[in-house]
Amino acid sequence: MFRTHTCGELRIADINSKVILAGWVQRIRDFGAMTFIDLRDRYGITQLVINEETADSVAKELDKLGREFVIQAIGAVRERSSKNNNIPTGEIEIALTEIKVLSPSEIPPFTIQDNTDGGDDLRMKYRYLDLRRNTVRENLILRAKMAHAVRSYLNAMDFIETETPVLIKSTPEGARDFVVPSRMNEGEFYALPQSPQLFKQLLMIGGFDRYYQIVKCFRDEDLRADRQPEFTQIDCEMSFVEQKDILETFEGLIKYVFKEVLNIEIEDFPWMPYSEAMENYGSDKPDTRFDMLINNISNETKGKGFGVFDSAEFIGAICAKGCATYTRKQLDKLTNWVKRPQIGAKGLVYVKCNEDGSFKSSVDKFYSQDNLKEWADKVGATAGDLILVLSGDKNTILNALGGLRLEIASQLGLRNKDTFKPLWVVDFPLLEWNEESNRFHAMHHPFTAPKPEDILLLDTDPGKVRANAYDLVINGVEIGGGSVRIFNSELQAKMFDKLGFTAEQAQAQFGFLMNAFKYGAPPHAGIAFGFDRLASMFAGLDSIRDVIAFPKNNSGRDVMIDSPSTIAAEQLDELSLKLNLKKKE
Ligand code: AMO
Repeated sequence: MFRTHTCGELRIADINSKVILAGWVQRIRDFGAMTFIDLRDRYGITQLVINEETADSVAKELDKLGREFVIQAIGAVRERSSKNNNIPTGEIEIALTEIKVLSPSEIPPFTIQDNTDGGDDLRMKYRYLDLRRNTVRENLILRAKMAHAVRSYLNAMDFIETETPVLIKSTPEGARDFVVPSRMNEGEFYALPQSPQLFKQLLMIGGFDRYYQIVKCFRDEDLRADRQPEFTQIDCEMSFVEQKDILETFEGLIKYVFKEVLNIEIEDFPWMPYSEAMENYGSDKPDTRFDMLINNISNETKGKGFGVFDSAEFIGAICAKGCATYTRKQLDKLTNWVKRPQIGAKGLVYVKCNEDGSFKSSVDKFYSQDNLKEWADKVGATAGDLILVLSGDKNTILNALGGLRLEIASQLGLRNKDTFKPLWVVDFPLLEWNEESNRFHAMHHPFTAPKPEDILLLDTDPGKVRANAYDLVINGVEIGGGSVRIFNSELQAKMFDKLGFTAEQAQAQFGFLMNAFKYGAPPHAGIAFGFDRLASMFAGLDSIRDVIAFPKNNSGRDVMIDSPSTIAAEQLDELSLKLNLKKKE
């Protein structure tokens, strides 16, 4: 027997028991007459003690020990003379009678502690050591609990957990595919799924009625804190449902997981049309933990001789509560912030609402105190507030103000990680125009149904058609998205046509789906949640990497196993592939 107890288990009630523990040496403290070893495993830490009464053989073995050795320790539980109230085993210790090294360790490259001295790269290279740290393990345990709760809820609702293939043909979700060459089919490639979208629809045609899967998806896209090349979705689909049924069912799921895992009751999720989200928050994923809404102040600002505003399509403002005291330096910093290419504003106009009721602005030359009072009234600013104004083309400015709103809220501490504000964003446009390819792209994906009342617009004004699509947004993060699906082959063909596919291209790529629609396809709809994003939000973390056991870095590399990597010439040969690498500039 390797152990009778774990390192987190023994208490005062166990005194005098003979026990065997196994684990890693966290640290050794040598006080001459007495030596203490902290023995660690997943469950906790137990103190082992060696003193003058301990047998020589044990003392000898002790000389060999170092940090992170795996040992087996045999001894009797006794009460500690000086107790440690910070850990559950802090009242006891083990007086050692025997100790055995099960596996030695080299000196680890960083300390295995909550506050480790290891940098990001080092920790990723030795991820197996990083995983021994409490914080990392706790995040992954949280994730496991969440997966468990998801399964309990969906199983109880009669969803069938079904696996779909990983070696498939491209599913167009908007990113690039990862491809896998086929040895047996020379010159041909599989694609890894960007999502199981088509398979879950085929499962509905197959009569499954309710499907889910906690599933890996693969997308070759630029990486960010909330994006990994391989990530996990909670992927779901239901038959004979409308949008309302989906939103109710999955609002229930999210509330259940919050309650089960964090013991938090979440209020009903509001629904917000996409157009409202864009106008008020400058984003299709609004952070609704705070207000600071965007106001259109074009009417209040135009025609007063300020050329920049007069020539702008849109003039928008936000009110930063209590920020009238911002210094020149702080305002310059904000100005530089909005001028960054990602934000794209040309400059920033401010109005300080002074305590005495007067205003001080960066455009005093053009606007009277009465004018500025009008702006203040429009944006709801009162004494002590700061009004920030941007002008330019409407979409850029809404986006810029959306970003500025988040930046100011972060500075003001309004984005509390323990507050959760979910909402459904609904009524997305079906199509969006893409300047580069000079054609419409599906905003969600090509299988999303238009709103029935907008179908006629498909022929006359496709950009105006709204989709039966919805996103779950929590605290400004897109946690999930889905739609009611097209389930008839004519409408699906029309959709491909609008997206610029010829009938032959549509048939070649998606013939199997359109064909399936001809054999009695039930009305169906579904949704997928980004499981990593939900888990990192539950853990209060900024990056999804911290809730993934073996994540990739920002260049898409696994630095531990050193992947991606080249393959042997024979392997390439077998796959009938020849590399033709272009020299990087
Ligand atoms: P969508 O593309 O919106 O929908 O993806 C669903 C959710 O997956 C998460 N997500 C990601 N998480 C981490 N890294 C990534 N690279 C990444 N990409 C997406 C997001 C997103 O909301 N088949 C449809 C769903 C459907 O229509 O049912 C789909 O995949 O949280």
